[in-house]
Formats: sequence, structure tokens, C-alpha cells
Amino acid sequence: MLNLGVLISGKGSNLQAIIDACEREKIPARVAVVISNNPESYGLERAKNHKIPAVILNSKDFSNKNTYELEIVKNLKQYDVGLVCLAGYMRIVGTVLLEHYPSKIVNIHPSLLPSFPGLHAQKQALDHGVTVTGCTVHFVNEGCDTGPIIIQSAVPVKEKDTEETLSERILQQEHHIYPLAIEFIAKGKLKIEGRRVKIA
Ligand code: GRF
Repeated sequence: MLNLGVLISGKGSNLQAIIDACEREKIPARVAVVISNNPESYGLERAKNHKIPAVILNSKDFSNKNTYELEIVKNLKQYDVGLVCLAGYMRIVGTVLLEHYPSKIVNIHPSLLPSFPGLHAQKQALDHGVTVTGCTVHFVNEGCDTGPIIIQSAVPVKEKDTEETLSERILQQEHHIYPLAIEFIAKGKLKIEGRRVKIA
């Protein structure tokens, strides 16, 4: 059984999708700990509802990124975490986390990468006028949303879409592909070859 550590900052709807998939035993994994850098994150409630240990680690309380990430690592180790899942975690991962979890950190991003990395990906897509966008699950490297891609799902943009309506439809796909990517990892089905991720 793979222990997951889920890092969040906000609503935690992807966290919920992961918890539900684990509880349905679709994934041979369990959410061992939830870490939020935002004390107001609704995801903390979700963890509590499922009796999952939840830790608040606010980066503002640490003198620098390294000491902050060392504290995250300490908590992840305490729960014997084998895969770190970023789910709406609003910080760029630094060298400390990357060195402790090489190729063991994944992220979900609300665009078809490499288009529209960074913040407000859905607004970027609307502003650019694309007719198709979507979401991407990828391994995390030192860049911003640049790691090897595991799964993507396309979402058509409708003429009347606002940032909210588009985000909502993308989220539905996120909740589908994020647990699926974790399932592949938990079952040992993925192999990273350079930029490519092969699914066995
Ligand atoms: C999602 O759109 C995710 O792709 C992005 O942040 C949002 C988090 O939503 N990284 P939630 O907190 O999982 O509901």
C-alpha cells in the first residue's frame, strides 16, 4: 500500500477525488497525511471528515524556503510517504523537497501543458482564444509546470465560457485523471524515459 502525502492550499476538490478513489479501493494507496500552507484551506475540513491527519505549515512562519521544506519533509517521513501529490498547492517546489522525493512528486495543472503554465491557466487560455484546453498530471521538476507529462485530458472551450464555467468543466476532468495517474504509479505501471512517461 502506497502512502500518499497531499499538499494543498485551497478548496481541496482534487484531494477529495483522491481520497474517494483510495476509499473505493480503486487505488492501492491511502492518503496518509494532508499538509496545507493555508490555515483557511477547506481541504483541511475534508481531511478531518475522513480522519486523515492534517498539518498546517505556513511558509510565512519560516525564515526561508529550505527550512520550510525541511519541515514538510519531516512530516512526510513521519507518515512514511512514498508519493507526494500537489493538489492546488500554491508554492513552487524547491530543491529540498525534490532531493528527498526524486521523481516522486506529481502535480495537476488546469491546462494542456506546455501551454499556459503558472497562475490563472484557465484565464490565460480564454485570453489567448484557444478552442481546446484541458488539464495535465505531470511529474514535478525544478521548473514551473515543466516536468514529464503523465496524463492529459482535453476540454473544449465554449463561446460563452467565463473563467468560472471553464474552470468548473476542467475540474471535472482533473478529478478523473489525477486518481488515474496515481493508480498507475501505485501499481508500478509508469516508467520515465527522458521527457516521456511510458505506461506499461
Ligand atoms: C485545480 O484547478 C488544480 O489544477 C490547480 O489548482 C486547482 C485546485 O483545486 N493546481 P482544488 O483545491 O483541488 O479544488
